[in-house]
Amino acid sequence: MKNRVIFVGVGGATCSGKTTLAKHLRNLLPGSVILHQDDFAPPQELIPLHPEYKVQDWDSAEGAIDWPRMIKTLKEVKETGVIPPEHYSHDHLNEQRDVPIERKVSERWKETFSRITKEREEKGERLIWVVVDGFLLYWHPEVVEQLDARIFLRVPHDVLKQRRLERHGYHTAEGSLWRDPPHYWEQIVWPAYVAAHGGMLEGGDVEHGGPNGAVPGLILIDGQEMGLAETVEKVCARLAEKATEDQ
Ligand SMILES: Nc1ncnc2c1ncn2[C@@H]1O[C@H](COP(=O)(O)OP(=O)(O)OP(=O)(O)O)[C@@H](O)[C@H]1O
Ligand SMILES: [Mg+2]
Repeated sequence: MKNRVIFVGVGGATCSGKTTLAKHLRNLLPGSVILHQDDFAPPQELIPLHPEYKVQDWDSAEGAIDWPRMIKTLKEVKETGVIPPEHYSHDHLNEQRDVPIERKVSERWKETFSRITKEREEKGERLIWVVVDGFLLYWHPEVVEQLDARIFLRVPHDVLKQRRLERHGYHTAEGSLWRDPPHYWEQIVWPAYVAAHGGMLEGGDVEHGGPNGAVPGLILIDGQEMGLAETVEKVCARLAEKATEDQ
């Protein structure tokens, strides 16, 4: 039996619903696991200060992720099909409000994927699904290259900002609680998001631009227009197609 590891990228801004979608996918894709990009953030003392506002900048792409470590882990997981034992996730520390979808939708996709899994096994191929959840997934070319499906959740600025303000804090990779200082959204989070995503959208327009081809095969989902069940439908249809392609 040959292993085939499929990385499903779920990218988008902070509070766009990536982890929510990733957890639905984990429930539908047999044996799947989630890799959270947040777990590749450098330790807090190495997070750079913003040159102008003098607060720690957790969002600008260059300094927000330990890129060599993330790329190394992705390559290792691709190769072995398992998350290395030394990889630690702090995701469970963060609260997660459930956004349910209709049971009939999830049941149908569960059945579809378990059927596909069996069919592929009969062809000698073991499918291993890894959902990669990250706010900077399409910035580094070596990360983009690793992702077999490239989903991008887009939610309007005002909704994102509101959700972020409602969040009481976020646990860092070391477990301490980070709370946004005043003006953090407009000074740090949003400009960093625009800088990291403008290049893959037409006219650099992160609110309305379509994919410009810089990230091949990008599946852009306007999350506010679509609703979660419809998003799951669209994503699963693409993943089912992907899984049944012969290599
Ligand atoms: N489809 C949706 N409809 C309504 N609310 C949603 C939807 N998806 C997520 N949310 C809500 O938005 C908030 C952020 O969701 P989530 O934690 O999944 O975002 P995220 O993209 O993982 O954020 P972060 O990058 O900061 O970890 C949560 O309160 C969640 O319940
Ligand atoms: Mg998240």
